[in-house]
Amino acid sequence: MAPVVTIDGPSGSGKGTIASRLAAILGWRCLDSGALYRLLGYSAQRADVDLDDASRLAQLALSMDIEFKEGAVLLDGEDVSLAIRTEQAGNAASKVAALPAVREALMAWQRACAVEPGLVADGRDMGSVVFPQADVKIFLDASAEERAQRRYKQLIEKGLSANLPSLIAEIRERDDRDRNRSVAPLKAPDGALIVDSTALSIDEVLERVLDRVYQTFPDLA
Ligand code: DC
Repeated sequence: MAPVVTIDGPSGSGKGTIASRLAAILGWRCLDSGALYRLLGYSAQRADVDLDDASRLAQLALSMDIEFKEGAVLLDGEDVSLAIRTEQAGNAASKVAALPAVREALMAWQRACAVEPGLVADGRDMGSVVFPQADVKIFLDASAEERAQRRYKQLIEKGLSANLPSLIAEIRERDDRDRNRSVAPLKAPDGALIVDSTALSIDEVLERVLDRVYQTFPDLA
């Protein structure tokens, strides 16, 4: 199998930014697995499918035509990059992600992303469930307040509306659901490098991650 670096962590820990920068530096493919759950939550709401109807959601997951193209996310050919980033889509994603049938339905799609020269995969269970044999595993964390601040800034910069106190509450609620679900809960996988990014800049986090990657793959340094 192609080399794989996994970056797991809660919402707003900065794993998306770190994963895409790392993939660009290495020239590897990048998988944003959260986008898959967001796409499913968004599709389900659009198709009026209940967010706890496991079998219809699993069918929907298998029928979605998904493409990641030049930084955009396409669903059945339509650019839904912004639509899946709303807090509403994030909450729907967290609900559908708690269903084992949904996680199973999205597994093959994710594993198929591990192609040469390599893959950087970001999510919640990349190192623990989807790519347990990954060469490098990173777990990125940060306080709920700091993560809510970051999300607030991102949303405002994208021209979307945002409210800080409700973002903090939503992040806590989502963390709770992601950490306490029975299937593939959010937790640091064995052997992971744990980085708390609360007081670190993106460059400082990237430096620590790159150190670990280059220790494992000295030829890439
Ligand atoms: O990383 P994100 O905020 O875009 O993820 C959205 C939701 O999807 C999140 O609440 C948990 C879920 N998720 C998951 O369960 N497993 C993953 N590998 C990625 C995301």
